[in-house]
Parts: sequence; structure tokens; C-alpha cells
Amino acid sequence: MNSECASTQSPIWVCPFCQHDLIFNAAEKAWLCDNRHAFDCAKEGYVNLLPSNKKSSSDPGDSAEMIAARRNIHAAEIFAPLADAVLAEIAVAGDPARILDLGCGEGYYAGAMQRAFTEAKVCGVDISKPAIRLAAKHYADIEFAVASSFALPVAPASQDVVVRIFAPSQDSEIIRVLKPGGIYLEVTPAPRHLWVLREALYDVPREHENSRDKFPYLQSAKSASCEFDVDLSQGMLRELLAMTPFAHRGHREKRERLQNDGGRKVGMAFSLRVFQKPDMT
Ligand SMILES: C[S@@+](CC[C@H](N)C(=O)[O-])C[C@H]1O[C@@H](n2cnc3c(N)ncnc32)[C@H](O)[C@@H]1O
Ligand SMILES: [Zn+2]
Repeated sequence: MNSECASTQSPIWVCPFCQHDLIFNAAEKAWLCDNRHAFDCAKEGYVNLLPSNKKSSSDPGDSAEMIAARRNIHAAEIFAPLADAVLAEIAVAGDPARILDLGCGEGYYAGAMQRAFTEAKVCGVDISKPAIRLAAKHYADIEFAVASSFALPVAPASQDVVVRIFAPSQDSEIIRVLKPGGIYLEVTPAPRHLWVLREALYDVPREHENSRDKFPYLQSAKSASCEFDVDLSQGMLRELLAMTPFAHRGHREKRERLQNDGGRKVGMAFSLRVFQKPDMT
């Protein structure tokens, strides 16, 4: 639906200036609030709701190069077992009407959610314009906005499910936008995620921190892990490095050796935590 930015019954976005509902105006091809703040619908179908004075840099978020690499990795379905695990966790919420993907990147997981929960309105936000442009081009049934997860252009208590997969966000915003009884799924790398790459890149590789098992105000509902090995060709290994902070970190010579050393088997390991907003009604 987003390729034409059609309007929907219940508003999707709120105005980043006055927090009033945004309604799509087909004649103006723009989202408007009742204070006449207007946000153009880009030709790919997304809307930019990031006020320029809220940008930390001229091009915040992941670069076009990182996004292109991530798209290639996702097109090869390297992360399919994780997508399946994410869908399984969301399924415990029943049949969600609204799902919001925070820091959605080029939309791989939002796409999987839309295919699995066909009745749901799936929306994604990312602060990176190249990411959202690619996401909107690729997944026409999903609403995407350039926005910060630290100030979501989303109405309070409007989401059944909020998902965050390796992306920054602000706890108070997640609590604010969740419906009472809604669930929040946080996916983070497990301590030994991509360990062989860490060993190859660093003299002293460090483990990721353990995921948190508590979330302010929300109730801990469930935790799960997802681990699998992938045989990466040299080309895919390069793409994986390019979509991660490894692209610039680690020992330069070690990184070049890793990039040119042929493919290898890489262990992926993730933690999935589900939290639920208390329903006081
Ligand atoms: C590691 S990527 C993960 C992308 C996607 N969730 C995935 O797993 O394919 C982190 C994403 O968070 C985005 N990001 C960084 N800061 C953000 C912010 N303040 N608000 C929204 N997105 C942000 C980046 O642009 C990037 O697309
Ligand atoms: Zn407004």
C-alpha cells in the first residue's frame, strides 16, 4: 500500500512537531496534521518524519554501503533462522493488528513479519534514509518512515508488538507506544556471536555482553536463543563484514587477510527476550 501512500482507517504516524495524527492527503501526496504540518510522500512511498534539527549529522544511521551489503546478505537468506525465531516469538502475541520494527534497516525482518501476519499493519522506522528508501522500494505493503527510535512519530498505546533487532532505541519510547498487554521483542547478539571473525580481527577478542533480562515497567515474559552456523563464501564474508562495525574495526592487516582468505564457517548466536506491558484494565 505504501507505494501510493494511501490513507488508512486508523492513523499510522503522528506529527513530529505537534504529535497530532497525520492523515495522508492523496491530492498533495503528503501526510498532514490538523495544524497543517506537511510531510511529503517520497516516490518510493516512505515519509521522512525526522525534523532536521533532530539530526545528529547530515546522514545519520547506517550508510548506503552498509545497507547495500545488508541487503545482499538478507537476499541470500543468511539470517533466515533468526527471522523464523523472531516470527515464532511474535506468534505468541496471537494475531497482532499493529507491529512496529525499530531500526528496521532495509526491511528484511519487517518483510518477514508482513508475510507471516498478513492481517497486521507492519511499520518500520530507521534513522537512515538510504535504509528506508530501499525498504520502501522492496516492501510495498509496509509503511516506512525515516525517524529516530528516540522520538517515535507513533501514537501512545498504539502497537501490539514492538520489535528491535540490533538497533538502538529508548526504553521510555517503547513503553509509551505499546498497547497495554502488548509485547516487546528485543534481539541482541549473544556473547559468542561471530566469534571466529572476532578472533581473526582482534588480538584480544571480546564477547558481547549478556542480554538484559529486565526492562523498566514491562514484565519479563520469555527468553530464547537462536544459534546456527553458516558456510560463507568469500564474497558473502566480505558483505557480512561490510554491514557490521567490523568494516572499520580490528587490526587493518588482519581485516584484509580475513577479507581475502576465502570463505569460512561462521557461528551466529542471538538472544531473544520478550517483555510484556502490564494490562491494568
Ligand atoms: C545493525 S543495523 C540493524 C538493522 C535491522 N534491524 C536488521 O537487523 O537488518 C542498526 C540499524 O539501526 C539504525 N539506527 C541507528 N540509530 C538509530 C536511531 N536513533 N533511530 C532509528 N534507527 C537507528 C541504523 O541506521 C541501522 O539501520
Ligand atoms: Zn503537526
